[in-house]
Amino acid sequence: MNQVPAWSIATPPLVRHNLDHYSRLRLRRLAAPTCTLSASLHIHQKKYTHFLQTNLAIPCEMNLIPDVLYSDQESKTWVIVGASRGLGLEFTRQLLARGDRVIATVREKSLSGASALWGEAGSDHGRCQMLLCDVLSEASITDFVSKLTVVPNLKIDHVVVNAGVLRYPNRATELSFQEFAFHLHSNTIGPIICAQKLLQTSIPIGTIVFMSSDSGSAANFREMEDGFAAYAASKAALNQMLRHMAAELKRKDDDTIILAMHPGEVATDIASIDLPWEVDGVMSPEESVKAMIPVIESKGIQHSGTFWTWQNKPYPW
Ligand SMILES: NC(=O)c1ccc[n+]([C@@H]2O[C@H](COP(=O)([O-])OP(=O)(O)OC[C@H]3O[C@@H](n4cnc5c(N)ncnc54)[C@H](OP(=O)(O)O)[C@@H]3O)[C@@H](O)[C@H]2O)c1
Repeated sequence: MNQVPAWSIATPPLVRHNLDHYSRLRLRRLAAPTCTLSASLHIHQKKYTHFLQTNLAIPCEMNLIPDVLYSDQESKTWVIVGASRGLGLEFTRQLLARGDRVIATVREKSLSGASALWGEAGSDHGRCQMLLCDVLSEASITDFVSKLTVVPNLKIDHVVVNAGVLRYPNRATELSFQEFAFHLHSNTIGPIICAQKLLQTSIPIGTIVFMSSDSGSAANFREMEDGFAAYAASKAALNQMLRHMAAELKRKDDDTIILAMHPGEVATDIASIDLPWEVDGVMSPEESVKAMIPVIESKGIQHSGTFWTWQNKPYPW
């Protein structure tokens, strides 16, 4: 039997044309990526009508659909996974300062990192919400995502999957099974599963950015980075997974943009290692994040599955 996009079945062209990006995304998520015409048409039409009536609070008539679904939300909403310190905390600080909403995750609310986050939010907790998420734990990721699904009318403009670790040194000729697994779980599997679970909800998501690294590039192999083997391998694996994620989403006619980002050499805890080589161009988290925000915001669906530096230069895989 012919497979046709459920989105096309459930949504007449004129309605699609009148909906904004997020409304279209949400409608697509309500329908399965593909369905058989005869079996699923009425189910999708039901979901579609339900969506219009509950979320738009209007009868399901085409000429009553507003151009912009979330007209009451002028500010953007960001999700920062791994916001306790370093780049994640700095993203939160800069985004709150410019008036955006931030849902920021930490691993332990009692830790000093969480206090720093609340310090940034000040008294404006309405615009900054803190949730727990440990990407080493599937249960924690699931719990975090389920908390987002009950936020009424949530749309997410940008997700930054920032959590990452580097235990130096992690040489291929020396590291233990556990140390290698730790890097892969923290830098590859946890971030990808976190994004996957977000994508499996009906929450409209504009962009998911993974914090990768130049160390993860196979084309620009950094031979001099002694002690970075497991870190580099985990970021290379992250890169491959996110490229597949982008390709799969395109095949499913899903508009969420998937990006990889290299933040530059930034003076954070992860980088406070005594290296036997000179690291050029070290910058502050302020500089890196200030540069990365417009790079993230400038990307459209045509860029999904691409790798960028903080300077908005494409980086080789
Ligand atoms: N700094 C650089 O020069 C540089 C260069 C290239 C790429 N990067 C990448 O940029 C990202 C941010 O690094 P950073 O420089 O900001 O380092 P950082 O200061 O060490 O911060 C790392 C962040 O990741 C979080 N994290 C670690 N393991 C986690 C887990 N299992 N679950 C949830 N969160 C976890 C940490 O939370 P806790 O406080 O709970 O540990 C912390 O918020 C990383 O992915 C890193 O690989 C950094």
